[in-house]
Order: sequence, then C-alpha cells, then structure tokens
Amino acid sequence: MKDGKLVTLAIESSCDETAAAVLLDGRQMLSNIISSQIDIHKLYGGVVPEIASRHHLNNVNTVVSQALEEGGVDMDDVDMIGVTYGPGLVGALLIGLATAKAYALAADKPLIGVHHIQGHISANYIEHKDLEPPFMALVVSGGHTNLVEVTGYNECKVLGGTRDDAVGEAYDKVARVLGLGYPGGPLIDKIAKEGNPDAVEFKRVFLEKGSLDFSFSGIKTGVLNYVNSEKQAGREINVADVAASFQAAVLEVIVRKTVDSAVALNKDKIVMAGGVAANSRLREMLANECSKHGIKLYHPSPILCTDNAAMIGCAAYYKYIAGDRDDLSLDAVPNLEL
Ligand code: KG4
Ligand code: ZN
Repeated sequence: MKDGKLVTLAIESSCDETAAAVLLDGRQMLSNIISSQIDIHKLYGGVVPEIASRHHLNNVNTVVSQALEEGGVDMDDVDMIGVTYGPGLVGALLIGLATAKAYALAADKPLIGVHHIQGHISANYIEHKDLEPPFMALVVSGGHTNLVEVTGYNECKVLGGTRDDAVGEAYDKVARVLGLGYPGGPLIDKIAKEGNPDAVEFKRVFLEKGSLDFSFSGIKTGVLNYVNSEKQAGREINVADVAASFQAAVLEVIVRKTVDSAVALNKDKIVMAGGVAANSRLREMLANECSKHGIKLYHPSPILCTDNAAMIGCAAYYKYIAGDRDDLSLDAVPNLEL
C-alpha cells in the first residue's frame, strides 16, 4: 500500500516492447517504463520473434527496477503483480510471465494474469477518470481488430473481428509496398495528410449485411496490384495519394461498423484502444460520426495506445478487486481468446 491505496506492479512483453509500470488503485500511473525494440526489428522489416525474446530477457529486470524506482515504491509496498499471459508471441510472453512469477514467489505477492486486449481497453480508464462501463470498444492494433461490447470492468463480449489481417498489419504491409519503412502505421498516418483520399478507388470490404467482422487482406493486394500496374505503365506513384486512399478505404469500414454497432446496442460511449487508435484520421472520422449520434468518444494518448504495462496494471487491479488470483501454474497462451 502507498498513501492508503493499492499498489500494482505490471509487466508486459507480448510483442516487441519490454514494459513495466506501477499504479495506485489501478487508475493512477506512478511510472510507465517502455523499452522499445523497434530499431532492431526495423532492420528486418517486422518483428522477429526469436530476437524479441532475447531482448526481453536482457531488459526485463532493468525495466522492472526502473518502474519501481520511478514510481517511488519498493517490493514491500506492492499489493499485486499483473502480467500479460496472452495473446502474443509465445517466447516473448514467457519472459514477462516468468519474471512476474519469480517476483510473486520471492516477495509473496498475488499474481494476476491479464489478457492483452483487456489491457488495451483499460488504458482508457487511466486517462479518463470519469469513464465507466458499459461502452463499445474498438480494438485496433498490429495483432487485433475487434469490436467488443464492454458491460463491466471484467465482462465483455467480442462482437466481431478480422477474418484475415489485423488493421495494423495491413498498415505495416502497405507501408512496406510503398517503401515507407517500419512500423508503417505512423508513417502512413503522416504522409496521408498530404495526399488525396479520392485519388485511387480501393474497394471497401463490408462483408455480409449486418456482419461486424472485417477483412483487410484484399486491400493489401489491391495496393500491391495498383503499384505494380502503375510501375509497368511507366507512371510515377504518388505515395501520399496511395497512402491517403488506402486509409480512406480501411477507415470508412471501421468507422461505419463501430458506430452502427454502438447505435444498435444503445451505447452512448465508444472507446478506442490499441496502436492504430493513435491514428489521427481514424480519430477525426470517428469523432465526426460520434457527434452526429450523440456518442461520446474516448481514446488514450498515443503512448498508452501502443503496448505498455500501465494498461495491464489497470486491468489487473479490476481483476484483483473482483477476487481473481492466479498461481504459479499460469502459462503463456499465444492465441488466448477474449
Ligand atoms: O498495440 P500495438 O503497439 O501492438 C499490438 O498489440 O499489435 O500496435 C502496433 C500497431 C502497428 O501495426 C503500428 O503500425 C500501428 O499499431 N500504429 C498505427 C499508428 N501508430 C501505431 N497505425 C496507424 N496510425 C498510427 N498513428
Ligand atoms: Zn498491443
């Protein structure tokens, strides 16, 4: 305890960020340390799982110590240890999980396993003190694209998901085709501001009527085919126009389905989560549509959109106060369902 409040130490290592954070009563962030491996994976154009695991192993103890120090607490103050146990890269998850278990065992603290997506959604509770369930959540990241009906801090239902690529994955692949680099999301976000979204007509994939699922593999091929045919015809490609047109096609579908589902289920709040929630055009488009329907829109600041441990700590806190506990048999689950 610190100042009469519960202290959470949280660890996240599901992909390529080694992260640890300390929170008070789940929503007050005392520290949020993120050691990014982006510069290493950039060399390969994407995350190399084996390399990610090795870097997590090298960094995790330093990151945890920094989080405690910056948070002004020591292990005696800690009331619970929250950790991501899935979904994610199995080798990467195992490093964070083994570390959390080791601290839990050595310091005799309760261990709480957190679903990574539950964490992304919870990032909003840290920054928006007034936010409470129920609401509709749009989870858009490098690994996920989901519409989730959130009915309580620990209760939610997945209404739709991607049938192929996640939206962040589509951004990253299209950025590669356009020669922009990695990770592609922020680069497309930036360059698209200078392009014309109507320059190239890419297909909007809505799937069957009423479906809340998504499909983004077609547009990736669409961009590739367009670039190749322009090159073959000897025409120069306007990268900003292609980026803006790709974004328009993808975001139009996401925004439509998100707002329609919120209206259909009588939700007056929409919460954005995950790395792609940092996208400026997506925020702008959703804000426009939400205002037409009297829906309040929430999103975390960019640093809490992408992977971090503060969001995991917040989700762990709500599981803890609901009485959830895990033991040392908790295992990493790479395809963990929500
Ligand atoms: O949530 P996250 O850090 O990791 C996963 O759990 O996947 O999301 C990373 C993804 C990457 O695909 C990255 O390109 C994308 O989020 N991303 C963005 C933006 N910032 C990050 N996509 C579009 N616009 C952005 N501003
Ligand atoms: Zn994530």
